[in-house]
Amino acid sequence: MRIGVLTSGGDCPGLNAVIRSVVHRAVTEHEDTVVGVEDGFLGLIEGRARPLALDAVTGILTRGGTILGSARVARDRMHEAVGDAGRLADAVGIDALIAIGGEGTLTAARMFSEAGLPVVAVPKTIDNDIDATDVTFGHNTAVTVATEAIDRLKTTAESHQRVMVVELMGRHTGWITLHAGMAGGAHGILIPERPFDVETVCCMVEERFSRGKKFAIVAVAEGAQPAPGTMRFAHGGTDAFGHQTFGGIGSRLAGEIAQWIDKESKPVILGHIQRGGTPTAQDRVLATRFGWHAVEAVHKGAYGHMTALRGTEIHFVPIADAVAQLKTVPEDRWTEAEAVL
Ligand code: F6P
Repeated sequence: MRIGVLTSGGDCPGLNAVIRSVVHRAVTEHEDTVVGVEDGFLGLIEGRARPLALDAVTGILTRGGTILGSARVARDRMHEAVGDAGRLADAVGIDALIAIGGEGTLTAARMFSEAGLPVVAVPKTIDNDIDATDVTFGHNTAVTVATEAIDRLKTTAESHQRVMVVELMGRHTGWITLHAGMAGGAHGILIPERPFDVETVCCMVEERFSRGKKFAIVAVAEGAQPAPGTMRFAHGGTDAFGHQTFGGIGSRLAGEIAQWIDKESKPVILGHIQRGGTPTAQDRVLATRFGWHAVEAVHKGAYGHMTALRGTEIHFVPIADAVAQLKTVPEDRWTEAEAVL
C-alpha cells in the first residue's frame, strides 16, 4: 500500500515522533511505501511529496517541529481541493492518507474523507483542546516549558518584590495555563473559560503583599477575557485565514496591577517557546503510539477515524466526534485548581 503522511496547522513537539513511528510500522510490518506530503494540505494541493524510507526518519524522534513542514490553507482553496481529492491523491501517488493536525486539520481530513479520499487522522496540539481524546501530544511539553518559566520567574520576582504576569498560549481553552499554573504554584490563574474581574486579581495581589509575601505570579491564557462590565479589553483582529488573533492581555493586566498597587508588575509573553524544541518523554511515547495505531487504522480500513487516548488505551473515534466541539476546562477541574491558589 502507498500511505501518505502530512502535518498541518501550527507545529507541535512530537510531530516527528509520529512520522517516524508511521514509517517504521508501515514499512517493517506491512511492507508499505510511505510518502511524506510537504507543508500539509498545501503540498497535497500542489503535488509536493517525497518518499519516506527508514533512513529518512533516523534521528528525528527527539527533534521538535516537523521534517515535512506545515502550512495553513485558506478555506476557499481547501474546499476547492476537496472536490478534486482523487486526482490530488493520484498526483502524489498515495492510496491512503494519515493527516496529523489540530482542529482545522481534522475538519479538512473529515471533508477529504467524505469526498472519498481514505483518510485517518492523528490529533495534535499543545492546547489540548481536541475533544474525544483524553490528551494530545505536545501539551505535556508546553506545560513543562511553561512550568519551568514560572519556576524561574518566581526567583527573580522575589528578589525584586515584583509581580510577574505570564501570558501563555490558549486562545479558547485554558489547559496550558491551568496545568502550568497549578504545577508552578501561580497565585492567579486566568483562563478563557472563566471571565475574570481585574479588581479581584489586583486585590489578591495586594493582599499577598500585605501578608508580607514578596512577590506574586499571575498566569493568564492569551485568550482570557475580562468579565462583562469590568475592564474594557478587545482581543486583536483576524488573520489572513479568518481566525481571530489574540495577544496583549498579559501586558494590559500587568499595567492594571502596577496602577493598583505600588509594586512593579511585568508582563512575560512566553509565546512560541511553548511549541518549539524537543518533546518530553511522555509526548514522544504518545506520539509514537498514535503513529503505530494510525497505520493499523489504515490497514483495518478505519477511514474517517482518528486515534484517541482513552485512559491508557488507544481507540479509533470518528473524526466527526472530535470536531463537534472544543474540549474546554470543565468546572470540576477549575475547582481543584482554585483550592490551591
Ligand atoms: O493552536 C496552537 C497554538 O499554539 C495556539 O495556542 C496559538 O494561539 C496559536 O497556535 C499560534 O499559532 P501561529 O502563531 O502559528 O499562528
